[in-house]
Amino acid sequence: MTNGVAHSVTMFGSYTPNGALGDDLAMVKLRSKNMSMLVPAHIRTLKPYIAGKTIEEVVREYNPPRISKLASNENRLGCSPDAKEAVIRSMDQIMNYPDPASKVLRERLARQFGIKTENVITGSGSEGVMALITRTFFLDTEEALTADATFIGFVVLANSRGVKLRRVPLTEDYRFDLDAIAAAIRPETKVIYLANPNNPTGTYFTRDQFEAFHKKVPDHVLVIMDEAYFEYARDVEDYPDSMKYRFDNVITLRTFSKAYGLAGLRIGYGFAHEEIISNLIKVKLPFEPSTPAQAAALAALDDSGFLERSVKMVHSGRQRLYDFLSARNVHYVESVSNSVMTVFENEKKAEWFTDAMLRKGVILRRLPAFGLPNCVRITIGTPDEMEHFESAFDELGL
Ligand SMILES: Cc1ncc(COP(=O)(O)O)c(C=O)c1O
Repeated sequence: MTNGVAHSVTMFGSYTPNGALGDDLAMVKLRSKNMSMLVPAHIRTLKPYIAGKTIEEVVREYNPPRISKLASNENRLGCSPDAKEAVIRSMDQIMNYPDPASKVLRERLARQFGIKTENVITGSGSEGVMALITRTFFLDTEEALTADATFIGFVVLANSRGVKLRRVPLTEDYRFDLDAIAAAIRPETKVIYLANPNNPTGTYFTRDQFEAFHKKVPDHVLVIMDEAYFEYARDVEDYPDSMKYRFDNVITLRTFSKAYGLAGLRIGYGFAHEEIISNLIKVKLPFEPSTPAQAAALAALDDSGFLERSVKMVHSGRQRLYDFLSARNVHYVESVSNSVMTVFENEKKAEWFTDAMLRKGVILRRLPAFGLPNCVRITIGTPDEMEHFESAFDELGL
């Protein structure tokens, strides 16, 4: 082996199949041990996101006759057929880079919500826009503030940016405690993250609560209103649609991943003051979101029939689940989202339940990573999937 080859192998030694390099391998392994020195402490201590089991993993491990994936708050109805067709049509342009400005989509969203294109940004999922926010606005000495038991994506982003993240407990009924969050604001606080409805609890805060909260937030603090589940909640009487306020220090995030069923394409958007948007655009990777994602989002916006069916399925499936759980004395938290959180006596019971359901092909989400070890989240599925959940549940003889 020449020196040159040995060098390049050394760099990627840990990926090399055992034995393929003979004696050189020992040196490779020794050298790669030190690579963690490159990693700053805030990344070294970062806990990686652990996704739920995939359908393929469940088939491999348990081979149940049927599988219902009710673990990841995805849209079990699928997506608009028009969006699929738009993706296929977009393949004719796939050799070209996407439109970096998402011009047509941003114009379309601006028209729909009665704002200017300059107030709209698109990203790779709403989490992509969240990532931009954490890259754009923090100085190293500044901090973020949110609640316990909320969307882990934001926690990971703040931690990976290396800023301090302070968290305020939820109320006893699993809601954001906006008074406590406002009281926790300090001079270093730069961004407050609120998910409404929240994930994993499915709870929401009201218009009155939001208005009272906003009065206490200084202008130099940016409030992220994560409304990933907006479409399921918007008809709730006292739900605060943050777009109606147009507060200068609030950015509203929404997504095509949930009610529109396009999670796999990664496309979401944000609405805010044009100075916030123009600075985010400077930091954005120029070519996200992708061409198929932009095309699908445009088509999905025009298919109001699919959106209606998708929201209706969740509303009726949620009521069906409430009735089912109530009849069996299972404690659950009322939700305005596409999932319902059940609360068990203890962690052991929650773990046993999730595992037993998995063996029957029903994939659910336990919530220790959210600090709720005795809770299990159930995504609302199709009527068929809900029937599968129910029959599997009853077979357990709880
Ligand atoms: C509250 C909340 N925000 C954002 C996201 C991520 O959405 P997207 O797929 O648009 O990145 C999720 C996904 O589960 C979520 O629950």
